[in-house]
Order: sequence, then C-alpha cells, then structure tokens
Amino acid sequence: MYIASEKRYEKMPYRRCGRSGLRLPAVSLGLWQNFGFKGVFANMEAMVHTAFDLGVTHFDLANNYGNPYNGSAEENFGRILRDMRGYRDEMIISTKAGYEMWPGSYGDRNGSRKYLTASLDQSLKRLGLEYVDVYYHHIFDPNTPLEETALALDNAVRQGKALYVGVSNYGRGQTAEILKIFKELRTPFVLNQPSYSMLNRWVEGDGLDTFCLENGIGLAVFSPLYQGFLTNKYLNGVPQDSRVGRGETWIGNQLDEKMVARLNRLNDIAQSRGQTLSQMALAWVLHNEAVATVLIGASRPEQIIENVGCIERLDFTEEEILKIEEILK
Ligand SMILES: NC(=O)c1ccc[n+]([C@@H]2O[C@H](COP(=O)([O-])OP(=O)(O)OC[C@H]3O[C@@H](n4cnc5c(N)ncnc54)[C@H](OP(=O)(O)O)[C@@H]3O)[C@@H](O)[C@H]2O)c1
Repeated sequence: MYIASEKRYEKMPYRRCGRSGLRLPAVSLGLWQNFGFKGVFANMEAMVHTAFDLGVTHFDLANNYGNPYNGSAEENFGRILRDMRGYRDEMIISTKAGYEMWPGSYGDRNGSRKYLTASLDQSLKRLGLEYVDVYYHHIFDPNTPLEETALALDNAVRQGKALYVGVSNYGRGQTAEILKIFKELRTPFVLNQPSYSMLNRWVEGDGLDTFCLENGIGLAVFSPLYQGFLTNKYLNGVPQDSRVGRGETWIGNQLDEKMVARLNRLNDIAQSRGQTLSQMALAWVLHNEAVATVLIGASRPEQIIENVGCIERLDFTEEEILKIEEILK
C-alpha cells in the first residue's frame, strides 16, 4: 500500500498556467516512453511514486503512448492509480488524441469530433477515471475544420469528462485561430504543449511563446532534455542502455562529435553553477516566463530525483545566459 511522503509539498514550486486558476509543478512527468507493456511494472510504479513524493503532481499521457501497443501506458498508469486513489484530487492527469490510434478512418491521424470523442472514452476506461484534468488535441489537422476540433474538446468539458483543454504541436498561427473559437465558446483552454529545449528553439522563432504569454495560455514543454542529449549520459559516448543506444529515437544521428563537444561545454557551465547538465537544461527552459512546466521523461527513478533537483537553482546570471548563447550558436 503506497503512502505518499509527508514532505512532498516542501520544495516544488507550482507555476500558474497562463491566466488560469490552474497551477502546475515546475517539473511534470511524461509517460510516453518506458510505461508500455515492454517495461517493468515495478519500475514504472517506482517512478510515479518517486515523482509524487517530490511534489510532481502532473502526469502527462496520450492515447497512443506505450510499447508494444497504443494505450498500454494509460493501462499501466491506471493500474498504478488503483493504489493512489486517495490522492486523486492532488493530481493533474492529462491525455491527448490526434495521432494514429486504431484502424480505419476514425482512429487515424485526425482532429474530428468522432475521433476525439471516442478516444477520450477509451482513455477514461484504460485509466479507470471518470474525468481527466486536461484533454489535448495532439497535433494540428489541416483536413478537419478547426471549429469541429474545438467543439469536440469543448464538449468533453461540458460532459464533465475533462476539466481543461489544450493543444499540442500547434504553431503560433494555428493557436491564434483556435483561441478565437475557444473564446467564443468560453472553453477553459489553458495549455499549449510544444517541444522546446536548448537544442530546439522553434517556439522562440515562431513567436509561440510570446503569443501564449500575452494571451494567458501556459506552455507545458515536452522533450526539454532533447530526449536525453542534455544529460550526463552522452558526454563520453553512447551507453547501450540509453534511448540512442537502443535505437528508440530518430534524433540519434545528431549525436556527432560537434554535438558531444557542445554538450561538454554546456556541462562545464552547469558544474560551475553547482548543477548537473540535466538540471541546468531544465532550469534554462523554465527561465522562459511563458513556460508553466517542463514534461520530463525518465527510464528510472534516480533520473527523476536528479532532474527535480533543478528547482534548487532556477535563476541565471546574465553572464551565464550569454555564455550559453555562445555555445548554442
Ligand atoms: N505532445 C507531443 O507530441 C509529445 C512528444 C514527445 C513527448 N511528449 C511528452 O513529453 C514527455 C517527455 O518527453 P521526452 O521523454 O522526450 O523528454 P526528455 O526529458 O527530453 O527525455 C527523457 C529521456 O532522457 C533520459 N534522461 C532523463 N533524465 C536523465 C538523467 N538525469 N540522466 C540521464 N538520462 C536522463 C531518459 O532516457 P534513457 O535513460 O532511456 O536514455 C529519459 O527517458 C513525454 O513522456 C510525453 O509526456 C509529448
């Protein structure tokens, strides 16, 4: 029987999501990888408990997360939740739909009312929940009228199956368009979920971060460690037991000599701040005031403990920022 640490709220800062009433922990846990049926259940359970004990109250899922089959991460998380029922009101649980999920025209990559409605019902069953806290459209669909997607998300809220809605992998223009519709409907649209890290700064170039900040929408940032590049893991080669070593990422070929040299230079700065590279990389993302939370992934509990340690030093001196910019050029 799991009993949460009494110290769980002592250190974690909770940041307001845009202009909403919702506050999220600076660090959240994502269950994209390592939570499918291929993983070891005891390890998944230990990761969720470790996170919650450290004040990580937000868990990010999607219908298609899990290996070997879609939905297995939600099933496993649902199993973990059975033993955490008493803490449900201390948790924010998010899920999404938008990518390929089941055969045929209604479960492929799309944003239709049919897909979003059916998928949420399936997710709730797998999770064993009556509602999720946040329901996202996972990726913009150019073939569905945005009004249909927005109405489907709004409907989920009105039916009591979601408390808030969000979008993911939407650029600034797409976000602006759907925001207009949500405003008319008075939908609680509070989150945008883009990728963003020291090594992937498209949200700055696109202006998505400034737009969201100005319009009261929080950013929940995914892959803030660039899938593990921005950790101590690859400073001296590629360990077999890593996402790149297992061939589980499409960005493995970017890990060339130049990249490794850059990571080592960033690591020098992290050390001079009294942090590990992953802690500095997370603090750097959180330094952007548009960001409400960073969604970290993990393959073992120790990584979560290390990464949550970023909250010990979130500020940067001007000199540090300039040095980092020089390395990232
Ligand atoms: N909306 C979307 O389209 C979308 C897309 C992707 C992700 N996401 C969300 O974002 C979450 C995080 O994505 P991500 O997993 O790519 O994030 P990430 O935090 O950039 O990378 C996580 C991986 O880095 C390695 N790692 C983490 N901490 C470490 C440490 N301290 N030392 C050494 N290695 C460490 C682990 O991989 P290994 O140990 O296995 O090498 C871990 O699985 C997902 O779970 C999901 O919830 C959303």
